[in-house]
Amino acid sequence: MIDLPRDEQLAIVAAVGRAPSAHNTQPARWRFSKDRVTLFEDPERRLPVADPHNRDGRISLGAALEGMVLALSSRGYCLQLRQRAATERQPASEGELLKVADGQIVPFSEPPDPLAHWVPRRRTWRGNFAEVTDEERNRLEKQLTSSDDIVAVTEPAGLAAVARLHDRCIWSFLRHRDYHRELYEWLRFSPRHRAWSRDGLTTDCMDLSWFERGLMQWVFHPTTFRGLKALGLGPSLASEAGAVRSATAVAVLHAPEGQDPLVSGRRLYRFWLEVSSLGLAACPMSATADSAEGREALRQQGLLPPGREPINLFRIGPVRTEIPTSRRLPAEELLV
Ligand SMILES: Cc1cc2nc3c(=O)[nH]c(=O)nc-3n(C[C@H](O)[C@H](O)[C@H](O)COP(=O)(O)O)c2cc1C
Repeated sequence: MIDLPRDEQLAIVAAVGRAPSAHNTQPARWRFSKDRVTLFEDPERRLPVADPHNRDGRISLGAALEGMVLALSSRGYCLQLRQRAATERQPASEGELLKVADGQIVPFSEPPDPLAHWVPRRRTWRGNFAEVTDEERNRLEKQLTSSDDIVAVTEPAGLAAVARLHDRCIWSFLRHRDYHRELYEWLRFSPRHRAWSRDGLTTDCMDLSWFERGLMQWVFHPTTFRGLKALGLGPSLASEAGAVRSATAVAVLHAPEGQDPLVSGRRLYRFWLEVSSLGLAACPMSATADSAEGREALRQQGLLPPGREPINLFRIGPVRTEIPTSRRLPAEELLV
């Protein structure tokens, strides 16, 4: 019977913890018990304003679940999932963790999943992309056309149209005071922030110089932002259009309408790791995926097949500098 020692459990959850999560909230918690492992959600890590139905939260949990599958595969195990409960249940008491999935750890003689190799190398890149080589472009286009759950935009005019749509969708959320305030709580402008080394969006991961970090801290403060918004400067301050236009491709990763976001999250993570394995970087574009206007426009532009919904959009391209590593909670806190 498998009974992983605590050291190995910690090493596994440290690798699993590298999975992406919206705003870097890291909602996944784990419990090993003999040959079983259980995934829990920490509901205090939800984003009630940005993600009222906890869709992105559950996608993040799905990414973590796929991370567990990959981490176990590199140690010669597979995970036989026993249950998958799609629930929006609220915790009955403060601090209660919600059970999400549960599986049996089984010895496995197949070689490790090759995507596990890319887990520590995958990162979100929020800056502009570098000039793409023909070889990189061909590699990416081959990857994007090999799956039937991806529609890709690669032409400059198409990228410019997606960039405009994405900016409109960003602003449709960010103009709301509650949304902005919630996002601001997860922004980490300085290493002096108490949670700088734990979670959230640190400014080094946002491709900002030291000068820009100071400026953005001022600009994004809810009071200043309100003033700048009144002056009509909000949309340009929040714009991601330059980064989108610089991408080699924007990929719309889609799933059947109503698919459990836990399943979508597993696919999202694998897709992102596949992009990393091509030597390219990516950034999700949730504002377009999450907004009704964004989905409708994608449909009208032929970027979203009937009966499908976006898991997310990714802008993808080459980056020639080292991308900073985002912060994570200590592995001890992920084991419950
Ligand atoms: C469901 C989901 C939605 C995300 N949406 C965005 C987004 O709209 N914009 C963005 O810059 N990053 C987005 N991210 C990336 C996270 O912010 C990122 O994974 C997290 O900060 C950890 O950083 P890392 O990916 O570099 O490890 C998203 C991630 C997930 C899982």
